[in-house]
Amino acid sequence: MTAPITPLIAGNWKMNGTSVSLGEVRNLADRLAAGTPPRCTIVICPPATLLERLSEIAGPAGIVTGGQDCHTATSGAHTGDVSAAMLADAGAQYVIVGHSERRTNHAESDATVRLKALAAMAADLIPIICVGETEAERDAGEAGSVVVDQIAASIPAEWTGKGIVVAYEPVWAIGTGRTPTSADIAQMHLTIRRELETRFGERGSAVRILYGGSMKPSNAAEILAIANVNGGLVGGASLLANDFHAIISAV
Ligand code: 13P
Repeated sequence: MTAPITPLIAGNWKMNGTSVSLGEVRNLADRLAAGTPPRCTIVICPPATLLERLSEIAGPAGIVTGGQDCHTATSGAHTGDVSAAMLADAGAQYVIVGHSERRTNHAESDATVRLKALAAMAADLIPIICVGETEAERDAGEAGSVVVDQIAASIPAEWTGKGIVVAYEPVWAIGTGRTPTSADIAQMHLTIRRELETRFGERGSAVRILYGGSMKPSNAAEILAIANVNGGLVGGASLLANDFHAIISAV
């Protein structure tokens, strides 16, 4: 039998946050210290400019940190980019790759996402590999096949290292306040689990599959109770300690 999966709640701050926002992390650390121990791994992915300072505050509170993206290369002439090794050097243990905002705004293909996941592993980071269908694809009844194709092409076959995390984020649910029904989430997460097990056997059974898209304190408990939902990737509601702590407590 496979060991139970420890859930993971990850906050993706996106392009939000300056020094002032570090106060939210101190606030979260205080709340965690005052309450019962969380039943999940907690990750915060701040903008790269805050990663090192945030890691210093988060570490003693048992919160780990991650980057929001990395380049496929280790170093070189790539103005404005950040490598996985640089994120690790700044304290990160995770990195999000293939977020739909990167896929859309920076035209990242599955092939690029796969190379980024490999770069993350080479730097000893755990990639959080994001997949998800657009609204048009869901309306056309293609959600399952789109996600399966993304998984096939974005997750490296030569996956090694500490592991991977998959985040299912329906594009139409991100920042919109809309979420799929629990039945739709259950169906997609089961599809993803089967795909991972077909490709990776027992290792696929142990991969954490996160749900992301308008997760908030009011819907977290219901979503996190769905089979094969092993945590959440939280955008807007991760910016305030109050909301993020409520989601962590819903695990
Ligand atoms: P929201 O929680 O703001 O919908 O964002 C989800 C997301 O994109 C996390 O990566």
